[in-house]
Amino acid sequence: MSTRVITTTESFTRVVETPGDKSISHRALFISALAAGTSTIRGLSNGEDVARTATIMRQLGASIEVSNDGVMVTGPVEGLRASPETLFCGNSGTTIRLLLGILSGIEGEHHIEGDSSLSRRPMDRVAIPLGLMGIQISGEGEMLTPPLAMDGRKSTKAITYALPRASAQVKSAILFAGLYGDGETIVREAVRTRSNTEEMLEYAGISILSTNQGEGRTVSLTPGRPLARQWNIPGDPSQAAFFVVAGLIHPRGDVQVAGLYDGAERLGYLTVLSRMGGSIERSRSDFGLSLDVRHSPLRGTTIYSTEIPSVDEVPALVVAACAAVGESRFVEMSELRLKESDRFAESVRLAQALGSKVVVEGDDFTVTGQGSASNFLEIEFEAPDDHRMAMASAVAAFCGRGGVIHGTESVETSFPGFFSLLIGPS
Ligand code: S3P
Repeated sequence: MSTRVITTTESFTRVVETPGDKSISHRALFISALAAGTSTIRGLSNGEDVARTATIMRQLGASIEVSNDGVMVTGPVEGLRASPETLFCGNSGTTIRLLLGILSGIEGEHHIEGDSSLSRRPMDRVAIPLGLMGIQISGEGEMLTPPLAMDGRKSTKAITYALPRASAQVKSAILFAGLYGDGETIVREAVRTRSNTEEMLEYAGISILSTNQGEGRTVSLTPGRPLARQWNIPGDPSQAAFFVVAGLIHPRGDVQVAGLYDGAERLGYLTVLSRMGGSIERSRSDFGLSLDVRHSPLRGTTIYSTEIPSVDEVPALVVAACAAVGESRFVEMSELRLKESDRFAESVRLAQALGSKVVVEGDDFTVTGQGSASNFLEIEFEAPDDHRMAMASAVAAFCGRGGVIHGTESVETSFPGFFSLLIGPS
């Protein structure tokens, strides 16, 4: 396990470039591999998770080459084919869940595995709707944890499916499986999750209609084969969250981030931090969303999971809550338990390690802030298998009293270079 000793610095001025958005990067690889012809991807995430998707697409017959122009992906004219090898997804939930949709229409047997963290995560949420589409997936226990085995078919049964919980991964798996459907596949979500799959399939020539209703959305997809395209991947707003929080709570914080993906479902955390009193100026250009963040005294707030569907930014928000004046209540956070680690328990543990009082009630928890990061305790925190816990705890240590973080190798899955950006040139 790798360990980082984090010391504090007097000032914190950074111009941050985040890696290419992880969600968009996975999808650009999947969609390009499905297409006949060569697609170019610029700005692909350099994290291990996205590399896992690339390796699997190669195993299924796509050719992927890195050139000066970006990553060139060529899907075989005859379509992807089953691999006799096991498809190893590492730590990546997006790889495995979206892959199940892609594999649905590739005839033959598929064997899929993940690392120890991914092998604890439920796949029944994807297997149930894909089962309705005629695809049987077997895994371990009731929650169908990996390793998984499945048989792909030439065509799937089109379904209309209401997602029982907000999940862009499940929605995307169904839409990918729907590409091979015998009719129109319709997915309804009660809370709008990231729309990358819909937007990107449409750009790749698939006929797809997305309609908002109240807080939710209905997506209808007509089967088809995506076309080869040129993809420019914007920066990852979920990775920017760590620097936004650091900029707000570091006593001399001043952070600029440019070129981020500007999708509404990904930016709820900015609304939460602004409501807490954070000074975050947003500006928009052809290159995406830019943020100008200044140190600000924060006050507690109530945060609903529906504001930040997928709850990826909660660990960073917990650190902000610890630095705020007053209580912050995190409401309906059950999904946190099913991420790369039990982020519900880990977020509580981090807040307590920093010296905050935490009260847990069912799926909610309330953090009492300490008024300033300068009041944090020095921490020794273990964050195995979970990049976001490692980065959140590193931000807390860096802006507070320093500390030691164990298990930092997981940061490579999504944000290589994170530590040098946070700690600055040595
Ligand atoms: C993602 C969806 C989210 C998120 C993950 C990426 C995606 O998960 O947590 O980091 O790219 O579709 P859910 O589908 O569970 O919301």
